[in-house]
Amino acid sequence: GRVVALIPAAGMGTRLGLPVPKAFVMLRERTLLQRSVSAALASGVVDQVVVIVPADLAAQIDAEYADRPEVTVTVGGAERSDSVRAGLAASGPDTELVLVHDAARALTPPALFADVVHALRDGARAVIPGLPVADTLKRVDTAETVLATPDRSELRAVGTPQGFTAELLRHAHSGGGDATDDAGLVEALGVPVQVVPGDPLAFKITTPFDLRMARLLLDES
Ligand code: C5P
Repeated sequence: GRVVALIPAAGMGTRLGLPVPKAFVMLRERTLLQRSVSAALASGVVDQVVVIVPADLAAQIDAEYADRPEVTVTVGGAERSDSVRAGLAASGPDTELVLVHDAARALTPPALFADVVHALRDGARAVIPGLPVADTLKRVDTAETVLATPDRSELRAVGTPQGFTAELLRHAHSGGGDATDDAGLVEALGVPVQVVPGDPLAFKITTPFDLRMARLLLDES
């Protein structure tokens, strides 16, 4: 069956504080989105990439990928989940597996896409990359008073690409609803979500500090 990678790139990226939407910020001559699309295709496990962009950029990005039949461009929505739903609607009906990958995770190694697909082929219905957390995490109330210290050994920092059977992801998104990640919607259905080892290079570029880190990492290679 076909494997489709949805790449939501329709966010404004206000935390980055730049005039262009985050996915269109340049990282050494290529945008975050261009790097994410290339990584998905370079993995060798993805048949189609659906890029989900802000309405005012759709024509331009569509033209950019006009000579790439494996790349489809569609318009996103107000919340990340709306953008994922738009991507699902643009995926072919013969889609077996869906990966959802933030455009903002621009340095993700192609092998991570393959790891997630392999775990799905081994029988998992939902797979997410996760890393142990280095910091101790605290739960706080609105006054920043500490409520609890969860056991760090039980925690994982998770990212994307998150992989699902197409049927499960469509079902998880059918009730509308929002979640910071797609796995959260699947968990709410009571379906097991499997964590596979992540890669620190798949970090999400969110703040100006993250952008500096990404540029320094590229200078190194
Ligand atoms: O804002 P955040 O970093 O959580 O966004 C994660 C990814 O989801 C980004 O690649 C962003 O462009 C995308 N997104 C989207 N549509 C939205 C909000 C975020 O495609 N409405």
